Amino acid sequence: MDPSGDAKGDPGIEYHPMDLNTAGGLEMLELTTDCGTAARLRHAIDAAEQVDGSADFDRFVARLRERFPWRFQLHPDVLRRDYLGIVKQHLQNLIPRMQPYMDSGIRRVLDFGCGSGGSSIALALAYPEVRCFGTDIDAAEIEVAKERAALYGVADRCEFFHVDINQELPFAQGSFDLSLCSSVLEYAVQKDARMFCVQQMVRAVSKRGLLFFSVPNRIYPFEIHTGKWGWNYFPRWLGARTVDCGFWEVQRLARPEKLRLYRCALLRLLTPWTSFCLRKGLAD
Ligand SMILES: C[S@@+](CC[C@H](N)C(=O)[O-])C[C@H]1O[C@@H](n2cnc3c(N)ncnc32)[C@H](O)[C@@H]1O
Repeated sequence: MDPSGDAKGDPGIEYHPMDLNTAGGLEMLELTTDCGTAARLRHAIDAAEQVDGSADFDRFVARLRERFPWRFQLHPDVLRRDYLGIVKQHLQNLIPRMQPYMDSGIRRVLDFGCGSGGSSIALALAYPEVRCFGTDIDAAEIEVAKERAALYGVADRCEFFHVDINQELPFAQGSFDLSLCSSVLEYAVQKDARMFCVQQMVRAVSKRGLLFFSVPNRIYPFEIHTGKWGWNYFPRWLGARTVDCGFWEVQRLARPEKLRLYRCALLRLLTPWTSFCLRKGLAD
């Protein structure tokens, strides 16, 4: 999608989608979990690094440069972190945060707003028993996701679907053990659009399914991607083009379904980039 029509690529604003989500991912995991889990993740990172250093990767980047020249106007470090090297970025930061929820028989994962596939591919590399189904409103990114999955050798366990905005997901109710939504809700600015996204995820996961979110935190008076003061608190007044989110808002948008926080550290609910897991159903 060309940036001129796309909130996340607003040319008047300098966006740094992932930079606040980089503190203490893998290091935290190494301190808090058993060596086996950390070693498995290290192994996945090594595999991703091998791909990133290959001639196939260089060819992939050359194709991206031809198709999306505007992306290559970003600072090279930002381009590598948030786009070209997004698989490794997610392996180091997102996947360690999801790890506590992945050990309980998770097999089928919905990656809502999967973009160019980085989060699905990272999950598939770290968890060989998992199948990922990514959806996004951006058809061009879905094509990149398919190419990227083949490049990293996980195309047999990662499927990607273009789904128009406000169109129902092409999956039966309760199809997934877990839904992942990474850096998406802040771009669904209108309340109706945001509610539709949440309701779709809620419908797609099983009766006791999990919903994991990684998103800039709406408790802060400035919108975190852009640094705009007031956008989080008075989005309509100020014509905000991105609005952060929080667990309480997801709970509200999911009604009448009741979601409750599941194994969440209080600290993660307060950080500028928050991540949290919610579970469908009330009792344990
Ligand atoms: C910053 S990217 C994140 C991609 C991916 N989740 C990741 O973490 O690498 C945001 C994605 O959200 C998608 N998106 C924005 N609004 C959406 C909506 N209403 N429904 C579904 N996807 C949406 C965009 O097309 C874009 O690919």
